[in-house]
Amino acid sequence: MIKTIGVLTSGGDAPGMNAAIRAVVRAGCELGIKVYGIMRGFNGLMSNDMYEMNLRSVSDIINRGGTILCSARSERFKTEEGMQAAIRTCRERGIEGLVVIGGDGSFRGARDISLKGIPCVAIPGTIDNDIGCCDYTIGYDTAMNTIMQMVDRIRDTAESHDRCAVVEVMGRGAGYLALSSGIACGATSILIPEVPYDFDRDVIERMKRTQRSGKVHFVIMVSEAIGGVEEMAKRIQAETGVEARATILGHVQRGGSPTSKDRIVASRMGYHAVQLLKDGIGNRVVAIQKDEVMDFDIYEALGMKSSIDLEMYKMAMEISI
Ligand code: F6P
Repeated sequence: MIKTIGVLTSGGDAPGMNAAIRAVVRAGCELGIKVYGIMRGFNGLMSNDMYEMNLRSVSDIINRGGTILCSARSERFKTEEGMQAAIRTCRERGIEGLVVIGGDGSFRGARDISLKGIPCVAIPGTIDNDIGCCDYTIGYDTAMNTIMQMVDRIRDTAESHDRCAVVEVMGRGAGYLALSSGIACGATSILIPEVPYDFDRDVIERMKRTQRSGKVHFVIMVSEAIGGVEEMAKRIQAETGVEARATILGHVQRGGSPTSKDRIVASRMGYHAVQLLKDGIGNRVVAIQKDEVMDFDIYEALGMKSSIDLEMYKMAMEISI
């Protein structure tokens, strides 16, 4: 059985990452495995910046957003020199397995280091929910709830002034956050990269149609992959006569105390990762499908495309009018 593992968080932080770290450390300690907490993602692995964790190092973090190990995106780790530095650290510290918590960029790092002989298990932690093999990624539910609360506030003021609120939400190249929050907030239009749109037909005409039925304030949800919310607001004002304001929600979406769903999914995934590593099984991605925790080969997982539920989009368009 493996004696020493490391855990790191990489890429954009996500609420629930701490709960996953906690599960990895506690499950490792239970099996008598030494667990290193590696600072700032792969950077800490290359520069040997880590500390030995114990049961108490992860006390009182299940409720905290962000990541106690800090996170980073590393260009150096993509080079052979960076990889060699990381492997040197693993040898020096006796690290025989790694848990990498992050998005698909981090999975590529996990795959590369697995290839060099260090078994690595990746856990999907990103608010974007854009991992193909996985119904759900750590942080998505908290981000969704944050967006919903923020847009509810924006709606209050839009309603008071008969305005249109054009809101940009995160998601990098994926429209999950925009679609789900658009449904949860009753947005009149939802613009996501997965569905081609025509601004006149899908925003202006829809607004005019709802205006005719008596509606006087609106929410338009836009994915950051589309962007341009300031310009959209100006065009809406000019073409519908409704005063419009743009809001880019930004990093508020990535912070905050994780929801129960994120805490539980993160705990289950962290625990599962250690059960794989203890037997030397690496090169896997932990996933959750239909509420069942499972794992996939990293190559296979990286090849799986995430896809939007178009039926959900269709439904949203029919009921938010
Ligand atoms: O992947 C998470 C995410 O928040 C994306 O939604 C967003 O595009 C990106 O990270 C922003 O990254 P940062 O501001 O940390 O560079």
